[in-house]
Amino acid sequence: MFVEVSDVRKSYGQGGSFVQVLNGVSTRIGRGRICVILGPSGSGKSTLLHALGGLDTVDSGRICIDGKEITRLNPEELADYRRDTLGFVFQFYNLIPDLTTEENIQVCSYLSQSPLAMQELLDTLGLTEHRNKFPSQLSGGQQQRCAIARALIKNPGLLLCDEPTGALDTKTAKEILILLEKINQRYGTTMLLVTHNDALRGMADKVIQIKDGQIFKEYDNEVRMPASSLTW
Ligand SMILES: Nc1ncnc2c1ncn2[C@@H]1O[C@H](COP(=O)(O)OP(=O)(O)O)[C@@H](O)[C@H]1O
Ligand SMILES: [Mg+2]
Repeated sequence: MFVEVSDVRKSYGQGGSFVQVLNGVSTRIGRGRICVILGPSGSGKSTLLHALGGLDTVDSGRICIDGKEITRLNPEELADYRRDTLGFVFQFYNLIPDLTTEENIQVCSYLSQSPLAMQELLDTLGLTEHRNKFPSQLSGGQQQRCAIARALIKNPGLLLCDEPTGALDTKTAKEILILLEKINQRYGTTMLLVTHNDALRGMADKVIQIKDGQIFKEYDNEVRMPASSLTW
């Protein structure tokens, strides 16, 4: 999917508690690209991702996904957009505790007309042997793989990941990044990865650096480094 953001502004609160969280953000991300969004805590990364995902409204500006202006959609149209287009991965997995790995993924496959094959996804994410376990029986990395599989089963054009490796040790984090890279190559999924880990910039096609609600630097990498070669 092709992402266009034009002069997006967003604030919270009033009077003494007023904060301008996004202060005129404009950028473009090409179809099938991996984009890494970097910035310190509180810089507005999650707010931007939520706006792109139609999970939150903006005060002004436009967001277009494949030419469709999502900032003009009503709540019902937004729900359709999220269902048909988006996968979301969070730092803390958000799996349903009473469902097994496979059931957690299955729940989302019902949302799609043409979901990916369960077995293929379980294989791709190394979850086949864990398919009948509950989240409490999985390690952090396994839980995140399950959350990624859940986001991917409907084969979304756009995958939004908010600190996907933030809760994981270095080795497990790298495994997750290698998987995301494999999925980008296999399915052509456009990916936005929000992180405060500087090392991830090497694996991106495009790097966006945010500070105080503004993009202060963005650039394209001519050559993407394989996630397996990242070090931090
Ligand atoms: N619902 C909200 N109400 C008030 N302030 C918020 C809300 N969500 C985020 N903020 C504020 O917006 C700023 C940016 O937050 P966020 O986008 O979560 O940053 P990041 O993801 O880069 O850490 C922070 O100062 C945060 O306190
Ligand atoms: Mg955040």
